[in-house]
Amino acid sequence: MGPDGERVRRRFARLRGLVAAVALISLGGAVFSLAAVSKPAPKHHAKASKRTRAEAFFRTGRRIFRHDTFGDEQFWGGTLQLHTAIEGQANGGVGPGVSPKTALAVGLKVDATRIPRAVAKAIKAGKVNLDDPATTLALLKLDAVVGVKGHFTANGKQLSSVGITCALCHSTVDDSFAPGIGRRRDGWPNRDLDVGTIVGLSPNLQPVADLLGADVATVKKVLAGWGPGKFDAELFLDGKGFRPDGKTAATLIPPAFGLAGIDRHTYTGWGSVPYWNAFVANLEMHGQGSFTDPRLDDAQKFPVAARNNMGHTRSARDLITSKLPALQFYQLALKAPRPPQDSFDPVAAKRGKAIFEGKGTCAGCHVKPTFTEPGYNLHRPEEVCTDSFQADRSPDGRYRTTPLRGLWSHAKGGFWHDGRFATLGDVVEHYNSCFGLNLSAGEKSDLVQYLQSL
Ligand code: HEC
Ligand code: HEC
Repeated sequence: MGPDGERVRRRFARLRGLVAAVALISLGGAVFSLAAVSKPAPKHHAKASKRTRAEAFFRTGRRIFRHDTFGDEQFWGGTLQLHTAIEGQANGGVGPGVSPKTALAVGLKVDATRIPRAVAKAIKAGKVNLDDPATTLALLKLDAVVGVKGHFTANGKQLSSVGITCALCHSTVDDSFAPGIGRRRDGWPNRDLDVGTIVGLSPNLQPVADLLGADVATVKKVLAGWGPGKFDAELFLDGKGFRPDGKTAATLIPPAFGLAGIDRHTYTGWGSVPYWNAFVANLEMHGQGSFTDPRLDDAQKFPVAARNNMGHTRSARDLITSKLPALQFYQLALKAPRPPQDSFDPVAAKRGKAIFEGKGTCAGCHVKPTFTEPGYNLHRPEEVCTDSFQADRSPDGRYRTTPLRGLWSHAKGGFWHDGRFATLGDVVEHYNSCFGLNLSAGEKSDLVQYLQSL
């Protein structure tokens, strides 16, 4: 469980205790008053059950976020045959297989709370073979690989399919057991995860090539170009693998925390949280559900989507739509993590805040406390002195003002949608010249300290 999930859970637990106490006390009062004046039943019960409902809703959403594949096994296992590459030839699949070491090296994370104590001890003692794909299968059986669901044959010996969940990209772990192994941190973007390399392991990329109208060699080149922490959510719509400058067209995986109160989501403002959740579950994860967006009928902008009628997706069984309410509720409850106390200079950050809100003009767009605009939060590329490549791959042709809370937690991979700025200092330099701010070196570094304090 992520620290935020944990915090919210504790808060609910505290609330529950309080509600139970209040209910007990008022019940006593009710008995007394019933006997005396025969008053109607107290309203506290309704309140208590509402709180319990909220808690149940939250838990359901968390389960969906972490564990639900929406039936996408039909793609990752069925079409791509990824499970055969994971198990490897020695275990009935193909190729060398994926050992735990390889899995960790491509950024997959392991949920330490799923590992039985005896196994954890054996790992610590170096008695578990982390070079053996069979160990990966054992971890999958324990449901310990974050965001990856393994299905096994009835005798439990062979992996029969594999699916993915939201947590694959939008969760990480706190490394408390070992690097890559620890407690879940939901909402934190996994900037170690090399999705392109993982998908590239598939022994059958032909269906992807067919969908995109390209050959397998090109698909492999595109996937190899993504690198850690990136994924291209628009590839399946427009088939664009590279930017005009030859760099990958993929974007950084963004946080899924700190999103409550924000109008448009994704780097280019495709829509609301439930809009995007339906989009991703249907069109990216290839789950089985329904999705509607006639904007995808634009064959100029979205040739692949238009050709395949993606804006009018209807599966025979809908395993997605009924999950959207709880999934949204859970995401909105994920708060951005606070920065560690000694990770920034509070005095400099205070000076930086004044620059953010004054001379730097940052607060004109990044409005506290969400740090994006309340209302329509999209901008034309030239407003922030940038190219239109990624904006042009979206319906509005604009960039969304990125919410800034928790910046410190996802510095890996850089900043802006494609990570073009390696550091926050580089971001500030860009604005300094774009807006002609004339910030001194001291002012720039104060501004960076403020950004790090959010
Ligand atoms: C393979 C990796 C991957 C998976 C799996 C994935 N996402 Fe994402 N997600 C991304 C990327 C990359 C973006 C950025 C897309 C863009 O801006 O074009 C994104 C964007 C988002 C955003 C917008 C965040 C913001 O700042 O506005 C939300 C919300 C989100 N995803 C939720 C989900 C949910 C819920 C699921 C499961 C149903 C999911 N994602 C599955 C990679 C992934
Ligand atoms: C005109 C509106 C606007 C103003 C003013 C503005 N920003 Fe931004 N900001 C944006 C947009 C739009 C993006 C997304 C750019 C992208 O990803 O391509 C962004 C992205 C960022 C990011 C990257 C966040 C991430 O997670 O990658 C940071 C940091 C940032 N802005 C800080 C600032 C600072 C500091 C200032 C003031 C010097 C400022 N912004 C002024 C609109 C604005």
